[in-house]
Amino acid sequence: SQQPPQPQQRRRPEYVPNRIDDPNYVRIFDTTLRDGEQSPGATMTSAEKLVVARQLARLGVDIIEAGFPASSPDDLDAVRSIAIEVGNTPVGDDGHVPVICGLSRCNKKDIDAAWEAVRHARRPRIHTFIATSEIHMQHKLRKTPEQVVAIAREMVAYARSLGCPDVEFSPEDAGRSNREFLYHILEEVIKAGATTLNIPDTVGYNLPYEFGKLIADIKANTPGIENAIISTHCQNDLGLATANTLAGARAGARQLEVTINGIGERAGNASLEEVSSCTSHTMTYLTDREYEFVQEHSGLIVQPHKAIVGANAFAHESGIHQDGMLKYKGTYEIISPDDIGLTRANEFGIVLGKLSGRHAVRSKLVELGYEINDKEFEDFFKRYKEVAEKKKRVTDEDIEALLSDEIFQP
Ligand code: KIV
Repeated sequence: SQQPPQPQQRRRPEYVPNRIDDPNYVRIFDTTLRDGEQSPGATMTSAEKLVVARQLARLGVDIIEAGFPASSPDDLDAVRSIAIEVGNTPVGDDGHVPVICGLSRCNKKDIDAAWEAVRHARRPRIHTFIATSEIHMQHKLRKTPEQVVAIAREMVAYARSLGCPDVEFSPEDAGRSNREFLYHILEEVIKAGATTLNIPDTVGYNLPYEFGKLIADIKANTPGIENAIISTHCQNDLGLATANTLAGARAGARQLEVTINGIGERAGNASLEEVSSCTSHTMTYLTDREYEFVQEHSGLIVQPHKAIVGANAFAHESGIHQDGMLKYKGTYEIISPDDIGLTRANEFGIVLGKLSGRHAVRSKLVELGYEINDKEFEDFFKRYKEVAEKKKRVTDEDIEALLSDEIFQP
């Protein structure tokens, strides 16, 4: 049916060319291939990781965390292949080359492995981390805060000394770390050469206003912070990863760490598709293939009502909503699935069921090529409802079967 022009939906401004060199640009750092792969059972082969990395580059992701090279020779190989190919292939209208990043703990062996893997990329990055919360330092690391600062400083300097121009440092469990201690360790690693300071809410403990305040406090109180980019890394244990990430961006973070479909340790991470849809990143190069590929190869099935990419995210079953959609899509959709490269079964996302009303059912008949008069339609609709009561969904075949009943035959 004819629809009036659609309202201005949540379309995002265009990309800024060579954006990563602009300190105000909000970078998207995708860690599907590292944190995402840490989801139980989600490991991918090197070949699968390379396919995902190519897709991420095509999407316009700025930094790809390709893996944790010290974790296995296979992962080192996977990260190296990604660095060699994806890290040297210009993509997008501005021909940018994504940064390829490898994770390492704060020790020389891990850092050497990460450098060996990423150094082939045009823009290589080492991401090194050490825990800074009391609970982690005491029970996991069994080190004093002074020892932790000394290790962090020394290892960031070591990574730089190898020739790595770009070193990211994460104080693990920052969301539960002492503020003064955070300012201190961050100041020290900046002096040692860290270029990005990632603030992980490792156990998804913070509420959005707390995480926003954490980023604002770090920005206001860490000496030398103006020489580095602040980043967010929010786990989803309380279902707040996307909200916390946005609160962090609002407070001044200029790198947001995310994963496709939000996969990651335990309840996962902030999802690429949710964060991008809420910020200034257009996802028009994205197609369902990326989501489906990750779903298939990580073995992590996306729940139907997952925002943006769930099977029901752009589907409408109730009669009132279907009527609204058929009249004007803006009534029940704030984003067009086309804008983010998603396809759906039919133009209006109409799914027929027991809650569907006359408008949607009649449109379906027209779509299937049936013209019946009002009286016939009323009879049909009554019988439709009887069938729909007994089924989760009414398919085209059900409609055809109902129409083949004698009553509708000439
Ligand atoms: O959740 C976390 O703290 C991490 C860091 C290594 C960034 O994954």
